[in-house]
Amino acid sequence: MNDFIDVVVVGSINQDYLIKTKSIPGPGETTTGAILDLQPGGKGANQAVAAASLGARVSMIGAVGGDFIGDMLIESLNKSNIDTTRVKKLKSSTSGSAFVTITPDGENSIIVASGANWGIEISHIEQAKQTIALAKVLLLQMELPISIVEYAISQAGINTLVVLNLAPAGKINLETLKRVNVLVLNEHEASFLAKKPISDLPSAKQVGQKLLDLGMENIIITLGQLGALMLGEENLYVPAPRVQVLDTTGAGDCFVGVLASRLSQGVTLSKALHQATKAASLSVQILGAQASFPTLDQIDN
Ligand code: RIB
Repeated sequence: MNDFIDVVVVGSINQDYLIKTKSIPGPGETTTGAILDLQPGGKGANQAVAAASLGARVSMIGAVGGDFIGDMLIESLNKSNIDTTRVKKLKSSTSGSAFVTITPDGENSIIVASGANWGIEISHIEQAKQTIALAKVLLLQMELPISIVEYAISQAGINTLVVLNLAPAGKINLETLKRVNVLVLNEHEASFLAKKPISDLPSAKQVGQKLLDLGMENIIITLGQLGALMLGEENLYVPAPRVQVLDTTGAGDCFVGVLASRLSQGVTLSKALHQATKAASLSVQILGAQASFPTLDQIDN
């Protein structure tokens, strides 16, 4: 199995409860008329699905609860051709849940009850050591305990490209960040890490430069409808195509999964950046996360 892995994802697996609402209620207020949709999610699982949609051989390392939702989440990853042999079922936990409210402008806000994602232990990662060391790309996010993220990165092989999506933003050891080959952040996460605000493209460039000066190799800052900015081996700004935004849930995951998938398939960072930007712009036109991810043909046409 190990010889065949392009992308190994160490990350979260959630059940998403998507609530389309006209407005977000204030404290003590109740709104009716919202529409509920249930979809598989979690930043880790979403990125795994986005990578697999482009034909990469993907293995998922993570955890679900001992409930029936956990079985459904594993089944849904299997249907996307993702290897789930390293997904643990933690009997005494509930599966991770995300409550996503989506307003008419397509913006979302998310509350996550981490459940089993928070129960994953170093020993789980140890059991997958070989898979991590031999993968072409190790892809991680920040919805697992930070000790797990840092330990997994320390297990990357000499030829393994490490891609970290610092979402949601959290504290992380600088030495760990220096082992990351491509750090992907949105403007809020980049501001958090650099302790410097971003309001436009020039300020995003300054923040990116500050992060590079700390010793990081490649920084990609996603800027929503403005597109994406890369600093490092190559400096490049890719504007996003103008599209009708329906739902931004998982657009960042689509971007990161496509980027990791293309890098594992040997394309250059700049080409991967163009394809990831296009993929994210396609995904915001469809409701939900995984259901909105495009194939390579859709990206290239
Ligand atoms: O990035 C979107 C994801 O964040 C959702 O699928 C939700 O599960 C949360 O983890």
